[in-house]
Amino acid sequence: MSTPAGRPTALVTGATAGLGASYAAHLAAAGHDLVIVARDQARLQETAERLHERHGVQVEVLAADLAQRSDLAAVAARLSEADRPVDLLINNAGYGLKQSVAVGDIDLLEQHFDVLARAVLVLSNAAAKSMVARGHGHLLNVSSIAGLLAGGGHYAALKGYVLAFTESLAKDLRGTGVSATVVLPGYVHTEFHARAGMKGGSGRSRAWLNADDVVADSLRDTFSGRLVSVPSLQYRGLAALLEVLPRGVVRTAWRLTSRTSPSRIAAGTAPVAPTN
Ligand SMILES: NC(=O)c1ccc[n+]([C@@H]2O[C@H](COP(=O)([O-])OP(=O)(O)OC[C@H]3O[C@@H](n4cnc5c(N)ncnc54)[C@H](OP(=O)(O)O)[C@@H]3O)[C@@H](O)[C@H]2O)c1
Repeated sequence: MSTPAGRPTALVTGATAGLGASYAAHLAAAGHDLVIVARDQARLQETAERLHERHGVQVEVLAADLAQRSDLAAVAARLSEADRPVDLLINNAGYGLKQSVAVGDIDLLEQHFDVLARAVLVLSNAAAKSMVARGHGHLLNVSSIAGLLAGGGHYAALKGYVLAFTESLAKDLRGTGVSATVVLPGYVHTEFHARAGMKGGSGRSRAWLNADDVVADSLRDTFSGRLVSVPSLQYRGLAALLEVLPRGVVRTAWRLTSRTSPSRIAAGTAPVAPTN
C-alpha cells in the first residue's frame, strides 16, 4: 500500500528528538512519506522541512500531546483514514519520571501512564484495524530493557506493559498480513535523560548505544516480522539473562542495587525508576 506518489507512509510519535527523530530520518531516506507527531509545533515544522528538502518525501505535521485524550483521538483518527493509509506505526514517544508509585504525584503518574501505555493501546488498535482491513502493515512499539525488570518503578512497569501488550497484539494479528514488533533498547544517547533530570552517559561507555544503531536494528527486525527486537550484543545477553532468572531474584537484585528504603520513598528521595 502506498501514496499516489508510490511511497509507503509511516506515522512516528515523538519524532522530533532522539530515537523518534532517527526513525523519521531513516524512513525518509528509505523513501517513506511521514506523519510526525510530538507536542512542539515549531520543532515538528523544522523537522518536516528538513526531511522534505533532504529526501523529497511528503512530511505531514500532527502536533499532539498524547496525554490529552482529544489530541490522542485526533492521531487515532489520522491512522483510521482509509484514503490516506498508514503502512507503519511507530509508538515511540515517552519520557522518564522520578515519582514513587506509592507516594508520588498521582496527576504526573497518570499523565505518564497515558503517554507510555494508553497511547500505545489506542494508536495500535486504530492502526491495526485499518491495516487488517487492507491485509498489510507493520506496528513497532518502543519498550525498554527496563520492561524486563521486576520492581523497577513506574517507568519499568509501563515498559513491561508495552512488551506484554505487543506480544498479545502479535498473537491476535497472526495470519492477517500485519506484523507487530517491540523493541527493548538499553541506554541510548538522546534527550531522554536530560529531560528527566538524570545523568547521561559518556560517549565511550559500551553501555550506551547510538540512536541510529538502535533504529537500524529495530527497523530491520520490524520489516522481517520479528516480534522482539533487542539491539546490540550486550543488551541481547542482558535480556536473555533477565528472562531466565526467577522474577524474585530480579526483584531482590534490583531492590538491593537501587538502595530503596521505606524512609527514602516517604521522603521522595528513593531512586524509583531505572534510567532507561
Ligand atoms: N534513551 C534511552 O536510554 C531509552 C532507552 C530505552 C527506551 N527508551 C524509549 O525510547 C522512546 C524515545 O525516547 P528518547 O530516548 O528518544 O527520548 P527523547 O530524546 O527525550 O525524545 C522524546 C520524544 O517524545 C516526544 N514526547 C514526549 N512527551 C510527549 C507527549 N506527551 N506527547 C507527544 N510527544 C511526546 C518529544 O517531543 P515533544 O517534547 O515535542 O512532545 C520527543 O520527540 C521512549 O519511549 C523511551 O522510553 C529510551
